[in-house]
Amino acid sequence: MQVIILPSAHEVALYAADRVVDVINTKPDPVLGLATGSTPIALYKELVARYQAKNVSFRRVTSFNLDEYIGITDAHQQSYRAFMEHYLFEQIDIFDENTHVPIADSQDVDVLKRSAQDYEQCIQLAGGIDLQILGIGLNGHIGFNEPTSSFASRTRIKTLSESTVVANKRFFEEGEYQPHLALTMGIGTILESKSVLLMATGKTKAEAVKAMIEGPLSAMCPASALQLHEAATIVLDEEAAGLLELKEYYQWCEQKRQQLHEGSLA
Ligand code: PGA
Repeated sequence: MQVIILPSAHEVALYAADRVVDVINTKPDPVLGLATGSTPIALYKELVARYQAKNVSFRRVTSFNLDEYIGITDAHQQSYRAFMEHYLFEQIDIFDENTHVPIADSQDVDVLKRSAQDYEQCIQLAGGIDLQILGIGLNGHIGFNEPTSSFASRTRIKTLSESTVVANKRFFEEGEYQPHLALTMGIGTILESKSVLLMATGKTKAEAVKAMIEGPLSAMCPASALQLHEAATIVLDEEAAGLLELKEYYQWCEQKRQQLHEGSLA
């Protein structure tokens, strides 16, 4: 794992935007894995700004989102399709048909299961995901892979944990129906991405971040599965890094990485 600790959430977003733009500029057919939630909003704002400044185009990009709620339609303001349209897709030049969010608006379980299988196939047909953006839940989830999700799991229907339902309550009106099921990429699906970049900011994430990086490999912290990925970067602000035991070591590693990049073994 590469652990990068930056002074502020703004710098975390800038770093993530640099990584996304680098993939777009170095791959002929870049495939991005995208995430919803409050953390990546600053990244999407930065990408829109770079697009408006004509520093990047998304015409060659294909995207796959991690997850979608079951039980509300795409038109619902809180659907993850609507989130992506609002914060990113409507504001850049990506082709609509190249944007993928799991299709989860059926009430038929068989249709949803087929949709999950089709999603896996669609990712394969696109050549796999070059860079998967991730956030982390307070309970250590990635996508909607809640604690005890199998590290081998694939895209499937998942029951949300109580803590996730509570954490997401703020997005729904009082008395409004709130989904408790989702279609989510599995941990196995995420681990097949060629590279992953997990963003975490704020002190509420510090415990989950510590469990992910320094805790044991455990289904109780789904994000700890990233310890198995050979190209996983975790980018944190100071607050999210606040409980890390080896914080100074990670910072030293980054200095060394820079020196090695410049050809120095000093
Ligand atoms: P957040 O969500 O970015 O809104 O904190 C992250 C997640 O639950 O994966």
